[in-house]
Amino acid sequence: MRDVLVVANWKMNPTTIRDARRICAGALRGATTAQGVHVVVCPPNLFLPELAAELKKSKVVTLGVQDLSSEEAGAYTGQISASMLLPYKVVWALLGHSERRALGETDGHVALKVRHAIAKGISPILCIGERERNDEGAFYTLIRTQLEVVFALLKRKDIVKLTIAYEPVWAIGKSASEAMSAAQLYEMALYIRKILIERYGRATASEVRILYGGAVKAENAHTLVRDSGVDGLLVGSASLDPKQFGAILRAVSVRPAP
Ligand code: PGA
Repeated sequence: MRDVLVVANWKMNPTTIRDARRICAGALRGATTAQGVHVVVCPPNLFLPELAAELKKSKVVTLGVQDLSSEEAGAYTGQISASMLLPYKVVWALLGHSERRALGETDGHVALKVRHAIAKGISPILCIGERERNDEGAFYTLIRTQLEVVFALLKRKDIVKLTIAYEPVWAIGKSASEAMSAAQLYEMALYIRKILIERYGRATASEVRILYGGAVKAENAHTLVRDSGVDGLLVGSASLDPKQFGAILRAVSVRPAP
């Protein structure tokens, strides 16, 4: 059985390296008290060198970035390339987060980023999700498109390197009671898995991790993972609070470490 993956998206927080060190130490502590859980910390890039040193020996916590350029180098103001990040032991990259899509990033841009990350040996976590839902179920078509634009650019053999994070935008930043229910999530995870199976077959599809993100808190983490069939969680604001984040890790733990 593979580990439950819990990704901490710190977004543009905290504002000091001192707090970054404290939150990271909390994630490390939390990860060592849980079993069968792997934690990915995605801090602001500036903190990577120092946090890479702190996490050097850890096998249960690895580092990710919140975005990545689709290019190697050049006239791309404000961007950072995979080659610049690799020395800091960056293993993962969140790509296509809704907060980046809101700034104008398209499915096409996201697909190029995913392909480049794979070429550089960084594992892409592709974020998808609808902004709103209506009774006609149009959001299912949107989810399919968000996936297919990326799949079209990837080699068949590379698909297993992808992690898909389903994050309904309407749940992001909300309270636990406004998150998706495990029953709704079960349906969506099944739908995403079905798209993968149609295209790549059952064996390959089962290797692709599907995560859930959007208002994940200590009180809903357990049911969201255990009752929906997803392989892990993407946690925003609750990942900045070491106590709450530790509780999330224990909630999804196979069994708490002694
Ligand atoms: P949230 O954020 O956990 O604060 O809802 C999730 C995300 O945006 O990745």
